[in-house]
Amino acid sequence: MNPLKRLGRRRASVLGLLATAALLTPGTATGAPDADRAGTLGAQAAQSGRYFGTAVAAGRLGDGTYAGILDREFNSVTAENEMKWDTTEPSRGSFNFGPGDQIAGRAQARGQRLRGHTLVWHSQLPGWVSSIRDANTLRGVMNNHITTVMNRYKGRIHSWDVVNEAFADGGSGQHRPSVFQNLLGDGFIEQAFRTARSADPGAKLCYNDYNIEDWNAAKTQGVHRMVRDFKARGVPIDCVGLQAHFGTGGPPASFQTTLSNFAALGVDVQITELDIAQASPNAYANTVRACMNVARCTGITVWGIRDSDSWRASENPLLFDRGGNKKPAYNAVLTTLGGTPATTRNAPTATRNALAATSGNPAAPRSAVNAESNLFTRANNVSFPSVA
Ligand code: XIL
Repeated sequence: MNPLKRLGRRRASVLGLLATAALLTPGTATGAPDADRAGTLGAQAAQSGRYFGTAVAAGRLGDGTYAGILDREFNSVTAENEMKWDTTEPSRGSFNFGPGDQIAGRAQARGQRLRGHTLVWHSQLPGWVSSIRDANTLRGVMNNHITTVMNRYKGRIHSWDVVNEAFADGGSGQHRPSVFQNLLGDGFIEQAFRTARSADPGAKLCYNDYNIEDWNAAKTQGVHRMVRDFKARGVPIDCVGLQAHFGTGGPPASFQTTLSNFAALGVDVQITELDIAQASPNAYANTVRACMNVARCTGITVWGIRDSDSWRASENPLLFDRGGNKKPAYNAVLTTLGGTPATTRNAPTATRNALAATSGNPAAPRSAVNAESNLFTRANNVSFPSVA
C-alpha cells in the first residue's frame, strides 16, 4: 500500500481513539478534544497538515524577544531579503550566501521548514543585471543564478518562489516590463521554471505575486491562464504563492474562489506574505478560513513578526505588537486554525464550547483530503521531518 495512505489511516485511527477518549473524559469540550488542539500557530496549523510561517530578517535574530516568538510560534521561515539577487549575487559570478545561510541554518537546527524567496524578480535586482542589453548574456546569467542559488540550498527548501511579480498591475493581464521580459520575451518565466526543476527536482516550484487574490482582477486571470498553459504543456510548476498584502478590509470576497480555482489546475496554493493594515481580527480570520477551506492551500506565511518588524510598520499589520505581545488578530488566527487562545484555555467549559462553535471547523484537513501533496513531502515525494 502507498505509505502515505497508510500514514493517513494510522492517523485516522489515532484521531478516532482521541475522539473516543474525549467522549469518555468528563468535562472535555465536545467535538474538539484538547489533545487535538495546540497553543501556537505552527503547531495548530500542523493539525490540519499545514504550516504557519513568517518572514525573518537575519539582522533581527539577535533580538531575544523576536527570536523567542519565532521559535515558539512558527514552523516555517522565509528569508525576508537574504535570498534575493542583490544579496546573493551582487556582482556577476560572485555569490554571497552568508545572510541566507544564517537564516537557513538556524531554521534547520530548529526543525522549521524553509521557503525560498526569490530567484527571478525585477526588484532588488543588482544594476549589473538590469543593465544587460543582450538576450543570450541575460539567459546565461539568469540560468546560472537559478542553478547556483538552488544548488546551495538543495534538499533544504520546501518551496521556491522561482519567479516573483512578473505580471503587470491594472487591466492588461500581461507581463510587466523588466529586463527579463524586455530581452527574453514572454518565455522567460517558462525558461526559469525549467532551469529550476533541473537544479533541485525535489523543491516545489512556485509563481508568486501580489494583487492576484481577487478572482475578478485581470492580473489574477492572467496568472491563472499562465498556470493553466504551463500545466497543459508540461512546464514544471507546483504552486502559486498569493502574497496577500491587504488593506484594512482584508481579503476580497472572492479570495477562497481564487484559491480553489488555482488549486483546480493541479497546483498547491500558499499564502506567502500576509499582512493586513491595522490587523483587524475579522480580516485575518477571513484570510485563514479561506485557506483552511481549500485542501490544496498548504500553508500561510505572515510577512514579519511584530508590527515594528514590518515593511509596513506604520500600518500595524502583523500579529504581535511592538512589545512582542499577541494582538487580537493573533487569537482570531489561532481560533480559525482550530486552536484555543491561552486566555480562554482555562475558561469555563461553556465559554470554550461557544468559541469552538464560532471558530468553524477546519473544513479541509489536508492530510486526509490530498495525501499526495502532503505537507511533509517535497515535489518528488522526498520526505520532510515532521514540524508539529
Ligand atoms: C520587502 C521587504 O519586506 C523589505 O524589507 C524590502 O525593503 C523590500 O521588500 N513583495 C515581495 C517581498 O515579494 O520580497 C517584499 O519584501 C514585499 C513585497
